[in-house]
Amino acid sequence: MKIGVFDSGSGGLTVLRELEKTLPGNEYVYFGDFLRVPYGDKPREKIVQYSTEIARFLEDQGVEMIVVACNTVVANAMDELKAMCNVPVVGVIDPTIEYVAKQGYSNVGVAATAATVNSEVYKKGLAGHGIDSTSVACSDFVSLIEANKLEKELDISIERYFGNFVGKDIQAVVLGCTHYPIIREKLQNYLNKKGEKIELVDPAIHTVNHIAEITSEDEKQSESVKKTKFWFGKVDESLLKRASEIMGKTVDASRHSFEMDGTIK
Ligand code: DGL
Repeated sequence: MKIGVFDSGSGGLTVLRELEKTLPGNEYVYFGDFLRVPYGDKPREKIVQYSTEIARFLEDQGVEMIVVACNTVVANAMDELKAMCNVPVVGVIDPTIEYVAKQGYSNVGVAATAATVNSEVYKKGLAGHGIDSTSVACSDFVSLIEANKLEKELDISIERYFGNFVGKDIQAVVLGCTHYPIIREKLQNYLNKKGEKIELVDPAIHTVNHIAEITSEDEKQSESVKKTKFWFGKVDESLLKRASEIMGKTVDASRHSFEMDGTIK
């Protein structure tokens, strides 16, 4: 099966790497909108415009399913994407909420972008299962991760945002932005240092488990990834290096930018 996966930037790679690991028999096409990242501070209309452009591009590549590997897009543009696409569209939020509900948690945190928090999709979805939640917009995280500023500035931001989850009897924090698993170790260390025993929930794992359930057995059993084609909104050495680190293999990407002239470069 040929599956399209997209995100505003490198976050979706945390979903793609899980897909490659669990469902290696598929062919993947990844789009990272590196020219227009971040999405999390943009108005809903922009998020709808950008994501529908990308979905159309992926359908033109002949994908048979689209995985929206971006919480911000799922929270703001899922209805438009489903209405527009001729192939199934799978998001990262529903499988995550299902997982949290199954754990029997009653009080969880949600770390996400401002656009995801403002949509209240997690808050309402969790409340539907009787789960209380504290949502925190971690507005600097995506820019810091994309700029590879993972030292002091990031530590200050972690304290500022994740401090909101300390001392509140929270059982789990949903990493409600696919960029955040990239800094998972730092987030976990921070909570450990504060003496909190909190599970960090990575939507990638639960989304991929869901996709495994709805795709065929043969694809799960195949030995290695057939092919993954990477399209980035901009391509440079440092980007390819970072993408390779996240994927654990050499990543080479072609450039496609919707802001140039809308044609495939
Ligand atoms: N990875 C996107 C998400 O899951 C990041 C959004 C952004 O670009 O701000 O929300």
